[in-house]
Formats: sequence, structure tokens, C-alpha cells
Amino acid sequence: MEKARRLIIAGNWKMNKTVAEALDLVNGLKRELANVKEVDILVCPPFTALCEVSKAILDSNIKLGAQNMNENNVGAFTGEIAAVMLKEFSVRYVILGHSERRQYQKETDELISRKALAAHNAALKPIVCVGETLNEREGGLTEKVLDRQVHGSLAGLTPEQMEETIIAYEPVWAIGTGRNATAEQAQQAHTFIRSVLAKIFGENVAKKVRIQYGGSVKPSNARELMSQPDVDGALVGGASLEVRSFADIIKNSI
Ligand code: PGA
Repeated sequence: MEKARRLIIAGNWKMNKTVAEALDLVNGLKRELANVKEVDILVCPPFTALCEVSKAILDSNIKLGAQNMNENNVGAFTGEIAAVMLKEFSVRYVILGHSERRQYQKETDELISRKALAAHNAALKPIVCVGETLNEREGGLTEKVLDRQVHGSLAGLTPEQMEETIIAYEPVWAIGTGRNATAEQAQQAHTFIRSVLAKIFGENVAKKVRIQYGGSVKPSNARELMSQPDVDGALVGGASLEVRSFADIIKNSI
């Protein structure tokens, strides 16, 4: 399938996997996916497994991401992790503003934009998550919410930084529910997000930005979702925790 942008499919492991379990998973993925060249493959383990997973994927086609970082470079921020610390383990991407962090850690668009800037300053590529709740969708507010989140979470980025930023459209009602957005709903939201990017950063930048879909992606729906012209990859939660399902999502997307 010919895509305008290279697909990037990421596994967001959330708060799952001990080091031993993480190694089992990533070693299995290495075996299953060794021949895949068409897609950028990314795993995002918890902080505690980054070191060992990083060693395990040396010389493979699997890249490493983290699930969060602090917006400061160093200092008295108990329990926090800075971008430079992630870089020690060859982390290249970092998920920012996931809806679970927006909900449980009260992360705001403003904070997420500072994290995105800090990530770029450390040469990490942020994956910035946006998405509406069920109430917002049913109230006809999807585009208003996406517009606000895209403006707020990416505020202050230069066009060059934006080109190196990935957006994950994750409708909150689809996350972990088994109820994915339809391919049409995803395509519609992605087109809208791209139009907002064009207004802020210009048409040329907007055309290059990769927008992932996330929310109950599984082997059975990956092909249809990934075949949409503005869907440039996936952020996968539950189905990324097993070799079989994550590998099948990737193979079905090619
Ligand atoms: P899910 O999670 O695939 O389990 O729905 C997606 C995400 O939260 O990134």
C-alpha cells in the first residue's frame, strides 16, 4: 500500500511488564518482525525496563520510546525523569499528554507544550496525544476540543520542530474499551487535525507530520484503519503487550 508518509506503529506498554517480561516481549518481537522494513516500529516500556530493552534491541529494526518525561532538565523534582536521562538509553521518542496523564495527573495543554519543547531541545521526538471524550463527541464538540488541544499542546514549536513531532489521535472513548473509532471517524479527525496544523505551521509542514490513530487497535482492524490516507500509524496499548497481536498489527498494516 502506497502511503504519503511512512507508517509509525508504537506499543504503549503503560504500567505493565517487569524487566524479565519486557525482555520476553521484545525478544519475541525481534524474531517476528526482523524482516519488516516498511514501517517504523517503536516500543515504549515503563522507565524501569528501558535500560534492558535498549540493549536487547541494539542492531534491530525496533526503536525505543518513553511514556512521559519532566519539562525541566535537572533539579529538585522528586520522582521525575528528565529527557537527558532517557537519552542515556538511546530513547528516541517520548509519548506526551496521554489521556491517562491528562486525567490522572491533571496534565494541561500548557504543560504538554513545555514538555514537547524540552523533548526537542534534547533531540527526542515527542508523540503528542490528543482526543475527545465520549461526552464531547456526543455533544458535537470533537473539532473544538481537537483544535484547542492541537493549538495548546504544540504552542511555541517552530515549524522545523513540528515536522519532527508525531501526533496521536486517541479518542478517549476508544482507549482500552474494545470499541475503536471507525476508519471513517479516524480519517475525519486526522484530516481536521492536519488542517489545524496547516493553519499554525503552514501547508508544507502539515503534509509531513505523521498522525497516529490510537484506541483499541487490534490485528483485525489495523488494515482498514492504516489504509486511510491521513492515518500514518498507530499507538497501541493492550494489543502491544503480546508478541502475536503486536506483530500481526504491524504485518496487517503493510
Ligand atoms: P488501547 O490503548 O490500544 O489499549 O486502547 C491505546 C493507548 O492508550 O495508547
